[in-house]
Amino acid sequence: MHNPDQKHYWDEVTEEKEFPTPFQFAEFEKYVSRDMSILDVGCGYGRTLAELKSKGFHNLTGIDYSQGMINRGLRLYPDLDLIKTDGEKVPCGDCEFDVVILLAVLTSIYHDNDQIELISEISRVLKKGGILYVNDYLLNQAQRNKDRYQKYKSDYNIYGVFKLPEGAVFRHHTTEHILKLTESFKPLVFEKRVYNTMNGHISNGFYYIGRKK
Ligand SMILES: C[S@@+](CC[C@H](N)C(=O)[O-])C[C@H]1O[C@@H](n2cnc3c(N)ncnc32)[C@H](O)[C@@H]1O
Repeated sequence: MHNPDQKHYWDEVTEEKEFPTPFQFAEFEKYVSRDMSILDVGCGYGRTLAELKSKGFHNLTGIDYSQGMINRGLRLYPDLDLIKTDGEKVPCGDCEFDVVILLAVLTSIYHDNDQIELISEISRVLKKGGILYVNDYLLNQAQRNKDRYQKYKSDYNIYGVFKLPEGAVFRHHTTEHILKLTESFKPLVFEKRVYNTMNGHISNGFYYIGRKK
């Protein structure tokens, strides 16, 4: 499910990156109550779980395949339950969680099959009727983006994938791709937004809330 170079990148940048995509709490709260069990997949240094904890949610678990991110998270928020994974299977039982959140993780898993596998793992650990919340990035029309999508299209066979100078590969998606990827969920919310990126740019993005059928 993952590319080892990409994991290496996250370990390398652990201390220098701040993840900016805002969690849409007001919307989330319409579907999720404070006693529900929540799993944050690709939790990074735990900022979203820390925000949820400060708002009274208490059944919280975060997983990330970067040991660096987990270490930073535990240093910042020692009370959080943050677990390092192998990036392949989600190390949790079937139907264990009420809610899974996935913020800015699809963008760093560019391959269709790897994204499909991750969503299938998420679906496995969610209870029937459970909630999936996703924030991620969409295609942009700015020339800088169009040029890099075009440049890397032949390498990755996907329009929207690009490589940063430091070697990490990211993907900006079409709306159709996201809706197809999440088709085993009943969509409840899909809203487009413009987000800041961790590298100081802006990008089209979305947040999505769906219910496991
Ligand atoms: C852009 S960061 C976002 C972190 C966090 N979700 C946030 O918004 O603050 C992407 C995170 O996903 C993690 N990640 C990427 N692919 C993963 C995988 N297959 N399994 C677990 N973690 C993964 C990376 O290590 C990194 O911490």
